[in-house]
Amino acid sequence: MTRKPVSRLMVDFQQMKDFSENPFVVDHAEGIYLWDDQGRQYIDGLAGVFVVSVGHNNMTVIEAIMEQLHRLTFAPPLASTNPPAIQLAERISQLTPPQFNVVKFASGGSEAVEAAIKMARQYQKQTGHPEKFKVIATYGSYHGGTLGALSASGVEARRTTFEPMMGGMVHVHPPNFAHCPLRLDAGQCAISCVLQFEEVIRREGPETVAAVVVEPVMNVEGLVWPPASYFQTLREICDRHNVVLIYDEVITGFGRTGTLFYAEQAGVWPDILCTGKGMSGGYAPLAATIVSDKVADAFWGETQARVQFNAGHTFAGNPLACAAGLAVLDYFESRQLLAHVAEVGPYLGQRLESLKPHFPAITDVRGLGLWWGVEFKQDNTSGVARSDIGRRIERAARERGLVVRGAPDMVSFGPPLIITREQIDEMVERLALAISDVL
Ligand SMILES: Cc1ncc(COP(=O)(O)O)c(C=O)c1O
Repeated sequence: MTRKPVSRLMVDFQQMKDFSENPFVVDHAEGIYLWDDQGRQYIDGLAGVFVVSVGHNNMTVIEAIMEQLHRLTFAPPLASTNPPAIQLAERISQLTPPQFNVVKFASGGSEAVEAAIKMARQYQKQTGHPEKFKVIATYGSYHGGTLGALSASGVEARRTTFEPMMGGMVHVHPPNFAHCPLRLDAGQCAISCVLQFEEVIRREGPETVAAVVVEPVMNVEGLVWPPASYFQTLREICDRHNVVLIYDEVITGFGRTGTLFYAEQAGVWPDILCTGKGMSGGYAPLAATIVSDKVADAFWGETQARVQFNAGHTFAGNPLACAAGLAVLDYFESRQLLAHVAEVGPYLGQRLESLKPHFPAITDVRGLGLWWGVEFKQDNTSGVARSDIGRRIERAARERGLVVRGAPDMVSFGPPLIITREQIDEMVERLALAISDVL
């Protein structure tokens, strides 16, 4: 077969054939806008994929990277580190509660979660519990594409092709009140879901369970998050059974939900916090596993004790990525970006809510910070299949110059955190046109 240049790319999650027939090739970008190779303009309503927190072509970040490019682009990872990595770890520990003093950098969210799982297992071995290896996660979660992170994930569609998954992974129901299999109300659903962790720990044998990993706000499951009481109880259960609590804040970290980390809103911090995506604003691959002293102390010892973390990746914590991470934090502070998110986030919610009277197919609008979703019911009149409506609106939105995330029954937004009220109006207008096109 002869291939067009674009069909040489194996694109993520999409059929190459479909993609190559109508390829979306982004050529350049500025602020919240993208332009494709045909010169068409789009609003980047998803910040790449929750990544471009400080907007495209952000000069604060670009200049910091340029300066770093001339100074040092790579330091021998097996034998050394570099000043931006040291400074970024320091900044992160200042921005988190006092028990977080150690950071393991990575190049993506999957690596960060993978490191957290390995760390939890090694921690248990090094603190006298070598039989503790199981990890409990929730159905509907996505923790990444590498086999360990994917095994922790509970999204069937992403797992089955690669089965069998890694052993020792156990799943419980996610706190998705709208789809509670027991038909409980929200409060009861949260309690019943969180108590499943204890039940599973008990039935699996507490002496075998190393860690629990949760996405505090679930994405693939459909933008759902439990009340603070869920996290309090989860923390107590983990403490009771000596289980390491891991939060996957790969999306929620770095301001997406209005606080630097969602743990602040949950009111409960984990033992290990994984983050990525918005951390470098998309200017370089960067993620992190942020480790509390309780866990990190088990990795500190004499050479002969051989308690160091036995893992690493070539590009993790490289100077360019860490320089980008530092510049993103500088930008957050100088522009008071979290305060901005607190102001414009609810405005985006109101604007989306205002679509409801025009489109009775909208069943719910929910979100927090600058992460919002619009949920649809099946529209019998237009004959749109229930599982297709979100994806059809996603495609229609693209035609209308808006990039959003379509999922079955849902369209979600996570625009750059710099978005203004006027740009929100523009984004919601384009969405309304796309919904009209489909319904
Ligand atoms: C919650 C969550 N965790 C982990 C990952 C994996 O991150 P990455 O794709 O950077 O490896 C993702 C990616 O979408 C994610 O949404």
